[in-house]
Amino acid sequence: MAVSVDALPARIRHRFPIFDRLVYINSCSQGALSDAVRDAYARYLDDWDEHGAPWEYWVEQLDAARRSVAGLVNAAEDEVAVTTSVSAGVSALASGLGFDGGRDKVVVSDSEFPTIGQIWHAQERRGARVVHVPAEADGTIPLERFDAAIDEETALVAITHVCFRNGVRLDVAGVIELAHERGALVLLDAYQSVGSLPVDVRALDCDFLAAGVLKYLLGSAGLGFFYCRRDLVERIEPTATGWFADRNIFEMDIHDYSPATTARRFEAGTPPIPAIYAGIAGIELMQEIGIEETEAHVRELNALLIAGVDELGARVVTPRVPEQRGALVCVASTDVDRLVAALAEGGVVTSSRDDNLRISAHCYNTAEDVSAVLEVLARNRSLLRLD
Ligand SMILES: Cc1ncc(COP(=O)(O)O)c(C=O)c1O
Repeated sequence: MAVSVDALPARIRHRFPIFDRLVYINSCSQGALSDAVRDAYARYLDDWDEHGAPWEYWVEQLDAARRSVAGLVNAAEDEVAVTTSVSAGVSALASGLGFDGGRDKVVVSDSEFPTIGQIWHAQERRGARVVHVPAEADGTIPLERFDAAIDEETALVAITHVCFRNGVRLDVAGVIELAHERGALVLLDAYQSVGSLPVDVRALDCDFLAAGVLKYLLGSAGLGFFYCRRDLVERIEPTATGWFADRNIFEMDIHDYSPATTARRFEAGTPPIPAIYAGIAGIELMQEIGIEETEAHVRELNALLIAGVDELGARVVTPRVPEQRGALVCVASTDVDRLVAALAEGGVVTSSRDDNLRISAHCYNTAEDVSAVLEVLARNRSLLRLD
């Protein structure tokens, strides 16, 4: 899709007041606050104030969040659990897996967010064997490495769509095909991709997907979601559970565990109602803005960014082929804390992981924002690892 590089932000940037003060180019950490999300929080407080305890309405909001997520990732509503984090959804999944029947192995890519590695290692206490798939020095993980790791003893393969450390996008389709050939299930962590590029659980053919709304979906902390393919739902009985995972939430029976027949069984306690108001608003806003248009827009911005970093002679850590990366671009630094601080002094908000500066453009960023980053980098060449 060909778009003029500033057409999209010209249309929507006014909805994100932070840009009156700062160049915010850090959506891999958290999306910028919009008028829509601020209004949603105000509506939550108004509803609380007006109705006292509008629980029925709040349960409706929980289902509205489920619908919203289902529409976003092309799932059915009964395949979606509304969670408080990626960790909560994945822990519920792990608690329901048995690691028996000859399949005790969990294959974990080295691109995973800490929570994913930690949850699967916790299952070693329950009989799981965790095998890591190492990345190359450049952060990519060739398919052959998954081919070597996934076998007939593999219960599950945990992969991440886009790595939070270096922006590498994994060959998700390749890994899923390999895993399915060998009878293993696949969990995809889509937190660093959802909202910045189209994520479709049917097209991906993943078995489970976990993500949250804090980043490119423009929501806030406290709301995540977990997708479980329909035919798998009733084969997994989470033992990490709670009353909102029960078949009938309002039955209030303390003598029984009867999980919901839908993916709601991966939920737990009281839903994060304020974050749900905000999350629905963020998802709707992102859909209104256009995720495909955003992907094309960010690709153009990142081409400018990478060309600028090249001109400075600095090292881009993220793959150059657009299909092998997400929205995040990382630049190697000699002292990344000082570099992030220098950018902040120049009014530019970024973040870091390892020794790399993370620059993550989204729908609202402009070519001028990219120039602002590059100007600070040019003034701080000693903080860049030069090629
Ligand atoms: C890829 C990825 N997964 C998971 C998380 C966070 O997980 P949780 O919602 O459990 O805090 C992040 C957040 O930074 C992330 O980048």
